[in-house]
Amino acid sequence: MAAAIIDGKKCAQDVKNEVAVEVQALKARGITPGLAAILVGDDPASAVYVRNKSLACNEVGIHSEIFRLSDNTKEEDLIRLIETLNNDRTFHGILVQLPLPKHLNERSIIESLDPLKDVDCLHTSNMGRLVDGSSIFTPGTPSGIQELLKRCGYHTDGKHVVICGRSNIVGKPAALLFIQKGDWANATVTVCHTGTKNLSDFTRSADILIAAVGRPKIITADLVKEGSVIIDVGINRVPDETKRSGYRLVGDVDFENVVDKVSAITPVPGGVGPMTVAMLLLNTLKSAQQTSSE
Ligand code: GUN
Repeated sequence: MAAAIIDGKKCAQDVKNEVAVEVQALKARGITPGLAAILVGDDPASAVYVRNKSLACNEVGIHSEIFRLSDNTKEEDLIRLIETLNNDRTFHGILVQLPLPKHLNERSIIESLDPLKDVDCLHTSNMGRLVDGSSIFTPGTPSGIQELLKRCGYHTDGKHVVICGRSNIVGKPAALLFIQKGDWANATVTVCHTGTKNLSDFTRSADILIAAVGRPKIITADLVKEGSVIIDVGINRVPDETKRSGYRLVGDVDFENVVDKVSAITPVPGGVGPMTVAMLLLNTLKSAQQTSSE
């Protein structure tokens, strides 16, 4: 039977519609949720992501501003901006788009965020809270994957979820989400990474395989189990002269060859990416709701 193509764009639209209703309710009480996005340098992919996040905010009625800083911004200047935004009541969420230019210490910059405005869930206090499931915010991509599985009816309870990639932004927090006791979690989780020996032994036993490696088409058909569900987090630019931009986007999964073997798969683009943005909006809304109840 042909694989189901999981429509992340549609699910994200559903989440956005729900967020928009809540935003209107808050606005009626005099509170407009606000998101500050900080973009340092001129990485073209990061510029696209930040623009998409800002457009999505507009769509649901969240106020957003992009703070663009030059490539050679000093660490203390960036931290000063974050501290100003921490104290600015118009912003309920602040995100620092990653990666940052090499001369900046990512960790000390993230730590300068007010954890109550850290809608990307990257501050160590929010990451730490993920361990016992008491987090204020859930990280965008992992919770976007969870929401996608939930809305499409792919259960995780008792399943073997295999995650390829151990990044702080996807792999590690995804593992923490899916091992929690609770609905749409409660999975047996394996995390594979560059140190993993015999990768296929793990990936071929995955009921749900999450590819978050950042390498085009690295998950080939021989690495996946027949009938499994494949979640492709990769967004890789590969040269393509037939495109006006000179590139096209491909995932970490060799979609054309994997699709015939599995029961469901997310496309790139239009799979996990839109869900990440939708969850960011949801976190910004939650943050604004929190301040309104204080
Ligand atoms: N870079 C790639 N993905 C993300 C994300 O979800 N948030 C931030 N801040 N940076 C990213």
